[in-house]
Amino acid sequence: MNQDKLKQEAAEAALEYIQVGDIVGVGTGSTANFFIDGLAKIKGKIDGAVASSDASAKRIKSHGIEVLDINSVGRLPIYVDGADESTKNRHLIKGGGGALTREKIVAQASEKFICIADQSKLVDRLGTFPLPIEVIPMAQSLVSRSIVKMGGQPELRSGFITDNGNTIIDVRNMDIDNPIETEKLINQIPGVVTVGIFAIRPADVLLLSAEQGLQVIK
Ligand code: 5RP
Repeated sequence: MNQDKLKQEAAEAALEYIQVGDIVGVGTGSTANFFIDGLAKIKGKIDGAVASSDASAKRIKSHGIEVLDINSVGRLPIYVDGADESTKNRHLIKGGGGALTREKIVAQASEKFICIADQSKLVDRLGTFPLPIEVIPMAQSLVSRSIVKMGGQPELRSGFITDNGNTIIDVRNMDIDNPIETEKLINQIPGVVTVGIFAIRPADVLLLSAEQGLQVIK
């Protein structure tokens, strides 16, 4: 089975968690796109969606699903999104697609965060995938110097501007022994908008698809 088919299987498994009348938080990326396309088939069951990026909002709307402003939504029962890496503790690296800040806002606001991925995303330890950090442009150098002091190798994501008008620094070789502590430390550097470690608010359920079937990690 190819990787896209595996992504689609994980995405479709997440549809089972949606209840009648839910407003659904929706992530960003190729796996989330399969989820959005699946959501279209059950759109009569839901009351709308909250999107974590302009790209996802556009795709959701193209299926005739209403996109709601998160500030006007009282309760967000569920958020479904992919990841670049996940451990068995459901700590994640996200932001490969650059939507990490809005993704973290929607994840934090949701009662249940379901992460959908193919098995290649499961790792023993976070950090092989370069760690994305969204930064306010005037703080790029300051943040990069701070990251070097922490042992990482920062690189500006060339030609990329986030939906919030900021830049992304991708960090290689970062020692992420303790994901919660590293998330807190990097978030404290002035100019950092969000670091792509999702550990303080991890996923609640990880749906991992593999050739052998679907693995559910809670
Ligand atoms: C976007 C993300 C994505 O969830 C992550 O990059 C995984 O993407 P894909 O499903 O395409 O592998 O964090 O900011």
